Amino acid sequence: STTPVKVAVTGAAGNIGYSLLFRIASGALLGPDTPVELRLLEITPALKALEGVVMELDDSAFPTLAGIEIGDDPNVVFDGVNVALLVGARPRTKGMERGDLLEANGAIFTVQGKALNDHAADDIRITVTGNPANTNALIAKSNAPDIPAERFSALTRLDHNRALAQLAKKTGTHVTDLKKLTIWGNHSATQYPDIFHAEVAGKNAAEVVNDQAWVENDFLPTVQKRGAAIIEARGASSAASAAAATIDHTRDWLKGSAEGDWLSMAVVSDGSYDVPEGLISSFPVTTKDGNWEIVQGLEINDFSRGKIDASTAELAEERAAVKDLGLIG
Ligand code: NAI
Repeated sequence: STTPVKVAVTGAAGNIGYSLLFRIASGALLGPDTPVELRLLEITPALKALEGVVMELDDSAFPTLAGIEIGDDPNVVFDGVNVALLVGARPRTKGMERGDLLEANGAIFTVQGKALNDHAADDIRITVTGNPANTNALIAKSNAPDIPAERFSALTRLDHNRALAQLAKKTGTHVTDLKKLTIWGNHSATQYPDIFHAEVAGKNAAEVVNDQAWVENDFLPTVQKRGAAIIEARGASSAASAAAATIDHTRDWLKGSAEGDWLSMAVVSDGSYDVPEGLISSFPVTTKDGNWEIVQGLEINDFSRGKIDASTAELAEERAAVKDLGLIG
């Protein structure tokens, strides 16, 4: 029998975890033929709730689920893990300044970065979903000098999927008719969903839409503020869609992107498209066998340039702030 792939999930007793774990266990991440061992990390007070989730995982009798370990020590839970999905983070609470938020999350992602550095398997791939995702990924990466920088990524696939849904609705098509959409920059309200290179049933999406006012006044704000709209409607932040996107992102990274298409992933910048080197910023990428490459040679129009620059400037500010706090070197 095959050795199980060890998949770590942090914040496992949280809302996203409650969707994510069942999908991983059912084979949605690694396929129906790969046994998976779950390694679930929580803070101590949430371990009891996590035990309840484990009871439900047991009760689901998933054929691909080979084992479950839980704990509150990343040095134990991350031992030998092949994939790490870092979902748990400190949410912004009332009256909390941005600096406080970065500091609280810094405390989490420095520790987890070091623990991955010291204990994860050599083939480790890391997806950060917990917010502020890009900067949390940067902190983890900076605290894991022995892990290649390209093994760290942050989730902008939910933004990508949200943009696909809006574009399909506008053009009267299905998401499967759409290709080459890009989310650039930060997973925040400054992110830039770019349809200028996208295709709708093989035709240029911006030309099919032919409505720049819709792009600027409807499409962009709808995608950028979708998270807030869901909180307003549901009374809780998006969880099932975030779990689905975390699966999509990590599965496609490991398995490879489709021929003739690309994905949006936040990965370390090599300076492509004038995104400052070293920032973890969303790009159009193709993937193969667990490796990614930034799509090169796209023409960036003035409108896109301004939007990309604004979002990467925000990322550079976040990097400067966590540097000041001593969270990265
Ligand atoms: P939640 O608050 O329901 O769950 C978070 C869990 O993380 C809690 O159970 C908490 O105990 C745990 N946790 C906190 N610190 C931890 C630590 N040091 N180690 C292990 N676990 C820890 O939140 P939810 O809804 O599951 O969201 C999780 C994160 O994902 C949030 O930061 C949220 O903002 C972010 N998010 C990101 C999205 C994206 O597209 N990148 C989309 C939606 C949410």
